[in-house]
Amino acid sequence: MQTIRSLFIHKWTSDVSLEGKTAIITGANTGIGKETAKDLAARGARVILACRDMAKGEQAARDIMREVEGARVLARQLDLADTNSICQFAENVYNSEKNLHVLVNNAGVAICPHDITVDGFEMQFGVNHLGHFFLTFLLLDLLKHSAPSRVINVSSSAHTMGRINFEDLRSEKDYHPVSAYAQSKLANILFTRELAKRTEALGVTVYSVDPGMVNTDITRHIRRPLVDVFKRFSTLLKTPAEGACTTIYCIVSPENQLLTGGHYKECATSQVCRAGLDDGTALKLWAVSCHLLGICWR
Ligand SMILES: NC(=O)c1ccc[n+]([C@@H]2O[C@H](COP(=O)([O-])OP(=O)(O)OC[C@H]3O[C@@H](n4cnc5c(N)ncnc54)[C@H](OP(=O)(O)O)[C@@H]3O)[C@@H](O)[C@H]2O)c1
Repeated sequence: MQTIRSLFIHKWTSDVSLEGKTAIITGANTGIGKETAKDLAARGARVILACRDMAKGEQAARDIMREVEGARVLARQLDLADTNSICQFAENVYNSEKNLHVLVNNAGVAICPHDITVDGFEMQFGVNHLGHFFLTFLLLDLLKHSAPSRVINVSSSAHTMGRINFEDLRSEKDYHPVSAYAQSKLANILFTRELAKRTEALGVTVYSVDPGMVNTDITRHIRRPLVDVFKRFSTLLKTPAEGACTTIYCIVSPENQLLTGGHYKECATSQVCRAGLDDGTALKLWAVSCHLLGICWR
């Protein structure tokens, strides 16, 4: 099994230091986000774990400090399903941080039953796309001030099944959990492309990432028998640390080795589906997202 695993799980290491850098990682109390946080802390970065549940966030911060000598990590409350919470989080960041060099939009909710955010958006589109879109909008001045800086949007190969359903973005007419997840992950890619164009000249580069199939709690909303099948092959799935590798690659690789607006998988550039290359849809999604959030972001 180990031999089969080693055929498709990419081994990549780097000893780049992030001393003097500050990073924010959403959904960092568990899974891929927590492993990303641990790695950045080990490289000397100051890391803010942006978590909706403070008890879980503080526990994750303690775990990382126990495992990484001298780690500078702290947990802050952020519920991406609530625009007031996102505003409060951003205000706290501006009050406490002089710089922000890395923003990892990692948190995600997947394949859940129909639900809505505090602001009335469909949950997966609301958290995975709109929540991160709004957070990035609010933190962009600090990222620009700290340039060169980077934004990493954690997407998924599920984006290939996605379509942006502009006619029913709130899923009021119809809701399918897998389609809603795929739509949100396609939105991560389109947001990456459009944001990259707008920020390249400002020294803020942007990348989308597919972590691969990773053994985390992302399956929490999926029906038990299906999860059991998935977990039966758990030795073939990546560990959360392996799942964090491409995100870390996009944070520490020299800028001239990366392409802003690009998509990365297995620590290398990767193709996106045709819908993910549609700049017209990316622009329309940008405008519609601004409209839904009531913001002006040119
Ligand atoms: N695992 C995979 O195979 C896989 C494959 C492709 C892409 N991905 C992507 O990788 C990213 C990380 O997923 P993971 O596998 O590490 O899953 P995970 O272990 O379930 O972690 C998801 C994180 O997102 C947080 N979160 C969910 N809703 C939130 C909200 N409203 N506000 C703030 N935080 C929220 C969760 O917080 P709580 O703990 O409080 O729920 C948790 O910290 C996701 O974007 C996912 O779509 C994962």
